[in-house]
Amino acid sequence: MRRCSASRPARWSSTFNYKKYHWLTFGPHFRDLHLLFEEHGTRSSRSVDELAERALMIDGKPLADPSQYLPASLVPASQGERAVKQMVDEAIAAHDTVIKAMHDDADIATKARRHRHRRSLHAPGSKSTRSSGVPEEIARKEL
Ligand SMILES: [Fe+2]
Repeated sequence: MRRCSASRPARWSSTFNYKKYHWLTFGPHFRDLHLLFEEHGTRSSRSVDELAERALMIDGKPLADPSQYLPASLVPASQGERAVKQMVDEAIAAHDTVIKAMHDDADIATKARRHRHRRSLHAPGSKSTRSSGVPEEIARKEL
């Protein structure tokens, strides 16, 4: 079974990376970038918390030990000194990684829902199905 990235701390490194960028940005756009990185870091942290708590609600167990979640993060931890453009580029790359993971998770969830739906159709007492196994009302909508 494939696991959703929601069960992985995809964004913890992003959160810490944003804090790094927030603290260490400089130059003529300091104020705007300083505030932007803080905003993204705060949102990232809230999102990680929400995903971890959702995982707990469905009997999952988020990685909670920092020694485990940082190495497992989908987004690599920023290392070393960075020029402002490098910080921005890293932040954009992290966004792309997280967005791709969210699309992959949506695909996994959609397939799981379809699989669960098909299984329920074949359960005793289920609604009638066509020979393809697709219920009439769904088959009509797919036309
Ligand atoms: Fe701050």
